[in-house]
Amino acid sequence: MNHCNFFQSSIGKKVVMATTGIFLMIFLLLHLSVNLFLFSGETAFNEAVYFMRKNIFIRMMEYVLAIGFIIHILLGIKLHLVNKKIKGEVDYAINYYFSTSFSSRTMVYTGILILCFLILHIINFMIPMKYSKTRHLISDYNIVVSLFKNPFYTFIYVFSFLILGIHLNHGFKSSFQSLGLYNQKKLAWIRRFGYLYLWIICSGFSIIAVWFFFN
Ligand code: HEM
Repeated sequence: MNHCNFFQSSIGKKVVMATTGIFLMIFLLLHLSVNLFLFSGETAFNEAVYFMRKNIFIRMMEYVLAIGFIIHILLGIKLHLVNKKIKGEVDYAINYYFSTSFSSRTMVYTGILILCFLILHIINFMIPMKYSKTRHLISDYNIVVSLFKNPFYTFIYVFSFLILGIHLNHGFKSSFQSLGLYNQKKLAWIRRFGYLYLWIICSGFSIIAVWFFFN
């Protein structure tokens, strides 16, 4: 199989989905670590954000991140449409329903909700912090803290972290399977790590939102 055929094949697409997915999962851990500086106070958080923004390596990675997100989303939608065609056959559809989990069946829908969250999130934080003319008047810390004073945003954010958890529940183990990990014993461990990972991510982000809503 030449390179071109590989990326057009369903296996090739799955490998790209898995690789971009793992990359995005590493980003989430890094993002959560920076956010935890919010608990150390205004100066610590502003300095952490400043460090990330000035670091040339991180700035280059931002472009890789954007490309990673775009590939993951477009390919995810394409795979969903291809699978839907196959599942059109009734017998297959019934088998599929009983042999798959809720999170695996809803990957494309949770994915689209996460994309909506991401657009809102960039409007909430990235634009006022990086591109607005008044960005020098309010610190990054205060932009985050004042957003979570609003019950509507706190709810939308926590709801999105729950949806992210459902997406990761299937995405984590599925990425390793797509990369060729079929050993049952190892898969059991991957599943355990997956739960640990999704709990850290979902509760970590949610605790930040809820904490600043109440404090
Ligand atoms: C409590 C939860 C969260 C808080 C407080 C938060 C905070 C922030 C802040 C302050 C920035 C701006 C950084 C900058 O422009 O220098 C940012 C950027 C970003 N966040 Fe979040 N975030 C949260 C959750 C998430 C989640 C769950 C995702 C992914 C699903 C996410 C994805 C992103 C992305 C893609 C960017 C743009 C990165 C870049 O600067 O290139 N965030 N976030």
